[in-house]
Formats: sequence, C-alpha cells, structure tokens
Amino acid sequence: MRSFAHRQRLQQRGLRREEFLDRPVIAIVNTWSDLSPCHAHLRERADAVRRGILFAGGFPVELPALSLGEVMVKPTTMLYRNFLAMETEELLRSHPVDGAVLLGGCDKTTPGLLMGAISMDIPAIYCPAGPMLNDRYQGQSVGAGTHTKKFWDEYVAGNIKQPEWIKLEAKMTRSPGTCNTMGTASTMTSIVEAMGFTLPGAASIPAMDSGHVRMASESGARIVEMVWEDLKPSRFFTRDSLINGIAAYMALGGSTNAAIHLIAIAGRAGLKLTLDEMDVAARRIPVIANLFPAGDKLMEDFFYAGGMPALLQEIRSHLALGALTVTGKSLGENIASAECLDREVIRSVDRPVAPGAALAVLRGNICPDGAVIKPSAASPKFFNHVGKALVFESSAQMMSEIHRADLDVDENTVLVLKYGGPVGAPGMPEWGNLPIPKKLLQQGVRDMVRISDARMSGTHYGSCVVHVSPEAAVGGPLALLRTGDMIAINIEARTLNAEVSDEEFARRRSAWKSPVCIYERGFTRLYIEHATQAHLGCDFDFLMGNAPTPEPPIY
Ligand code: FES
Repeated sequence: MRSFAHRQRLQQRGLRREEFLDRPVIAIVNTWSDLSPCHAHLRERADAVRRGILFAGGFPVELPALSLGEVMVKPTTMLYRNFLAMETEELLRSHPVDGAVLLGGCDKTTPGLLMGAISMDIPAIYCPAGPMLNDRYQGQSVGAGTHTKKFWDEYVAGNIKQPEWIKLEAKMTRSPGTCNTMGTASTMTSIVEAMGFTLPGAASIPAMDSGHVRMASESGARIVEMVWEDLKPSRFFTRDSLINGIAAYMALGGSTNAAIHLIAIAGRAGLKLTLDEMDVAARRIPVIANLFPAGDKLMEDFFYAGGMPALLQEIRSHLALGALTVTGKSLGENIASAECLDREVIRSVDRPVAPGAALAVLRGNICPDGAVIKPSAASPKFFNHVGKALVFESSAQMMSEIHRADLDVDENTVLVLKYGGPVGAPGMPEWGNLPIPKKLLQQGVRDMVRISDARMSGTHYGSCVVHVSPEAAVGGPLALLRTGDMIAINIEARTLNAEVSDEEFARRRSAWKSPVCIYERGFTRLYIEHATQAHLGCDFDFLMGNAPTPEPPIY
C-alpha cells in the first residue's frame, strides 16, 4: 500500500514509472537560501549533483534544509547547528531515501549535516560549497574574515575613511562561496575531506571554478555506487578517520571552532574524543598551510598549490593511510599521486608557517575542564604573560564601555568576558575576539590577551583564550573573576590561572547567583536544557552516541 502511494505521488509530479523504479533514491540535502550568500550557487550545484545521480542510474530528490548563513543568523548559527543535525537525521529517516549528498560549507552547515548523516547511517557523501574567489586591494590579495577584522580595526582607529570602507565592503567578499581564509568553513570542509567524506581534493576547489561543478556531478554519480556497495558512515568513519581529521586540522592551522565540532561529530559515531588528544596532535604536527589568519595566503592559492591531497601528502607520516573513504579506497590510495605545486603555500613540515601550534588546551583554576587558544594566530609576546583583569559581566556591558576614553586599560591588561557560553549567551556566539579598546588602537596596539567562555571566528586572530569550561552561566570559576585580579597564562605549560586564593574563590561563590533564564519556550529553551559544555562538543545530551533509533511503526 505504502509503495503504491509513493509510486502514485511521484507520477503526480509528472514522472514516468520507468524514471524511478528499481533505482536508488538519493536525497540531495541542500542548505541553499537567499540569506546564505556563501551557498548562493548551491541550487546550480544541486542540478549538477542531480545530473551525476541520473547518469549513474539513481533517482535524485532534493530536500531543502536549514541554510545557516553565518553572518545572517542571530544570535549565532552555533545555536542552530544541532537543529540542522536533527533536521538532517530526521529528513533522511522519515523520507524514502537510500543515500544522501550533503550540500553545505558555511561554518555550522558542515558539522550539522555530517552529525545528522552519521546518526542516520545511510550512505552519504559531502559536497562542499567551495571557497570564494580572492580580490585585490592596494596590490594585496584580500578575502573574507581576517581582512574584515584587520580593516575594521584600522577603520575604528581612524586610518580608513568612510568612502574607502564602502569600497572595501564588497571587495572582501568577491563571489559566492565560503570564506576564503582558513576560517571555520574551510577548516571543517578540509577536515571532512581528510576524514574521507568527500571526493579527493573537493574541499579546496573554488566555488566558481568549473571543476567545482564537475566535482558536484561526480559526487552524485559516486553516491549511487556507494548505495550499491552499502558504504555507510559506520563502515568507513572510524578512529583512524578521526586521527586523519585531527592531523589535517593541526597542519592547516584551523579554527578553534573545529575542536568543538570534531568532538560532536565523533560522538555521533560513538567515538570518544577529548581536548587533550587534540593538544597532543598539535604539539607533534606543525602548521604548514600558509593561509590567513596564521599565514598570508588564501584558499584560491591553496587550490593552485595542490589543495588538501598535497597537504595530506606532506603529513602522511602522521596519518592512518589505510582509513577507508567514500571513494571505496583508502586515504593513502586517494593521495598517492598528489604533489605540492607551491612551497610558499604548502610548506614542508621542517619549515612551518608559525612558531606556535594550531591549538593549545589550557587548564587551571579558571578553566578546570579546559579552554583553548590558537597560538599560531596569537602574539608570541603573550605566550607567557601576567596581567590585570578587566572584567565585563555581559557582552552588552562590554560593547557600551570598551571604547570609552577613560577606560582603565593598557596593552598588558587581560580582557575578560563572562556569560558567552553555550547556556549563558545562549548558543556560544563568536564574541571571544573582544574588540581592542579604541584608545589602544589609536596608540598602535593590535593584540591583547582576551579570555571568555564564548567562541572566536576562525578567520580572526589574536591572543584569545576561548571555550572556557565550565562556562560562567553554569557556575564555572570564570563567573567569579573580578576586575583587578591578576591572570597568568603560560602556553608552553598549558596553564591559565587567576592569582586568587581558594578561600577567596569560595567567598565569592557563596555570593554568586545563577543568572535568570528568560527563555521559557521554543528551541532556545531546548538548547539551554540539553546542550553540553564546550569540552564535550555542545551536542544535545540526548543526541550523543550511536545507539540505534528504532524505525517508527508504519502500515
Ligand atoms: Fe559563510 Fe564565512 S560567512 S563561510
């Protein structure tokens, strides 16, 4: 009866029975929307995927999913990553589909789509949106994110005037495609390639390259074969894949956000991943991708240099080369013929890009469950630093006071922001790159130590300690810091401490009041009640793990 209804309703669309009978049904899960500029081309790419599916003998069906345009969603797309993961899982569970092509790329879409597909565990391949094109400004290549931050600081300092700023606005985002620095988008799509979820080289192809269209078509063709091979995530996404993803993350100098997303993705496959494992990898594997914000090139340059296959070839001694991938071959086989075409962009491991690692996990009386910093994008002079805290109790207070001329601050001050975590904000926005006070910008200061339980954009740079866990809103010690406390950070020792006695902390704790939750209903309420802390990946507690979900009864 049910299959009759399916056949009948497809014919209602004007399809002949021969067009879909006895063919694998492939979902194209598309995160296109008018408010996701990085995905502006994904309707056309869905057409290319469709072509590939038909060519290989499958039957394509396009299923729209939450688009999550990074800068368009308030308060932060992170609040909705788990929403997209749930949507993806349930789209694939509730519809009659055999396999899926996942179309995404803007920051949270990659982990969201992947988490859902891993939980549903049908054959799935990732088709990344690809980075946007470079532009030029005053003779230098410019891109999104890192340059936005650099130019914004110059604008606030008065070094760039309004007419120039208006010209720059469009220059930094030249075409559809994801941010073209090694921000969160490129970090995640590249890691996902290293973990075997994309065709080789897919993550580095610029969005507007005709090769990107061909990659989309090939992904469509390959998923049909994957269905016949029953090549689902549980068969190829293993601890070895995770080792490869982590190694790629470190060599790329990727975004701190990836630490959260990787833990959440691994958790969906029942794989336990800790911050400490990533710290160990970061100490062993140097940053060799010369890309903003750690370096000075853009994703288009990375593509010309050979992209991910070339980078993976360079760190092959750190990889589990036997890990299976969506090609049906091992990662080692996929990258066997890859070579670096530009040593300025993809360095050798003995000539790294930056003195610092991609990630350092700090612990101490401010962050007993951990906090992270990206040393490769921080100032070495702050690697071992003691400074007086200037504490903001909320983002609103920070924004109203940070640029005041009478702010008691100098370049050695440690700026602290509370209540920016998963529960406190809620959704853990990218507030962690606290603005440099205008009076210091005008003196030429461009970096300071900043500490928060929020996240930081992967395109940004600076000595920012983020993801302090547990966060202030659930009573983490960060909540107890006060202006004037001395804060000591030592990246080599991996420590972050307030020079405050246990007795004083206990006194402050007895006076501390948990913030009142103003969200009584809706998704935000669900998030606050169920999101885990940053060191656990911020997934919902009821979605973690790989316990089987029973099929709902049908008749
Ligand atoms: Fe979409 Fe950066 S805003 S990738």
